Amino acid sequence: MEKKNIDWSNLGFSYLKTDKRFVSNYKNGAWDEGVLTGDDQVTISECAGVLQYAQTVFEGMKAYTTEQGKTVIFRPDLNAARMADSARRLEMPVYPENKFVQAVTETVRANAAWVPPYGSGATLYVRPYMFGSDAVIGVKPSGEYQFRVFTTPVGPYFRGGVKPLTLRVSDFDRAAPRGTGHIKAGLNYAMSLYAIVNAHAEGYDENLYLDAATRTRVEETGGANFLFVTKDGKVVTPKSNSILPSITRRSLMVVARDYLGLECEEREVYFDEVKDFAECGLCGTAAVISPVGKIVDHGHEICFPAGMETMGPVTQKLYDTLTGIQMGRIEAPKGWIHVVE
Ligand SMILES: Cc1ncc(COP(=O)(O)O)c(C=O)c1O
Repeated sequence: MEKKNIDWSNLGFSYLKTDKRFVSNYKNGAWDEGVLTGDDQVTISECAGVLQYAQTVFEGMKAYTTEQGKTVIFRPDLNAARMADSARRLEMPVYPENKFVQAVTETVRANAAWVPPYGSGATLYVRPYMFGSDAVIGVKPSGEYQFRVFTTPVGPYFRGGVKPLTLRVSDFDRAAPRGTGHIKAGLNYAMSLYAIVNAHAEGYDENLYLDAATRTRVEETGGANFLFVTKDGKVVTPKSNSILPSITRRSLMVVARDYLGLECEEREVYFDEVKDFAECGLCGTAAVISPVGKIVDHGHEICFPAGMETMGPVTQKLYDTLTGIQMGRIEAPKGWIHVVE
C-alpha cells in the first residue's frame, strides 16, 4: 500500500481529513453494526443532547509504524474501558469494549496510507467519540447516540528538540471533588478553555490545577497527568479521584518499576513538596512525557534542576523506554501492542 505524499516530519497537531471514518448509531436500545464511510459530515437535530447539554465523551490514542514495519495501536483496550466509564457517568449507553477495539482497528486499517512511516516521528492520532444525537429539550439523557472514530496524522511532538515547559498554578479549578474530572467528557475541556487561553496569553505553556476542595494538592494539567522524581530516584504520581486516569502514566509506572527497577508511588502530592522534587514531567498520549522546567505560583518560581534545555535523566530514561516499547525496539509487556493486520 502506498503512503500519502505528505511531509510527515513537518506535520503539526491539527486536523487533516483522512479517507475513512467509522460510524455506528444507537436507537431503540441497541447499537447497529456500524459502517466505514467517506462522509466526514455529521447531521443531527438542532436540539440534539450534545448541542444542548454537552452529552459527549471521547478518547484519544495513536497508531504508528514500528521498526519492523507493522502498523500498531498502543493499548486500545484501556481506551475502550475508559470510554465505557465515561459513558456510564454521563448516562450514555456503553459502546461494547471489544467492538470499540474492532472499530478503531478497522478505521486505522482503512486509513493505512495515512499511518506515518517509522522514523518520521509522526503518528496517526485516533479519535473515538460518541454523543447524544436526538432532540432533548428537558434536561435528561438522549434516547439516541452516535459513536464515531476518525483518524488524523499528527507531527512529532518534540520537533526541533525537547523544550521543557513552564506551568503556572491556576486560579481556576478543573474538576469538582465528586464531579467528572476522572472521565473524558467534552464538558471538562470546554470549561478549561478560558484558563488555557489566559495562561498562554500570560506566557505559560500549561495550567497546573490544584484540588478544588483544599487547593493544597497537585491534580493534573488540562491535558496530562504529572510524574515527579524524588532526589533519591523514586517515581511519584498524584493519586486523586478527580484526575483522568492517563494510560501513558499507568504505562510509565510499569516501565519505571519493571524495566528500570525504580521505586514507584501513587499517592497524594502536596503542592508544598513540589519544590523538593528533582524532576517533573507531564504524561499523555501526545508527548509520552514532556519535561517541566519551571512552575510559577503567583510570582514564586520553582525551577527543576535539569533546567529549560533538557529532560532530567530519569524522565529521559522513561521516555526512551516507553517509546522503544511502542516502536518495537524493546519487548513490550504482554497485550500492550495491538497489531493492525
Ligand atoms: C485531562 C487529561 N489528563 C491526562 C491525559 C493523558 O491521558 P492518556 O495518557 O491516556 O493520553 C489526557 C489526554 O488524554 C487528558 O486530557
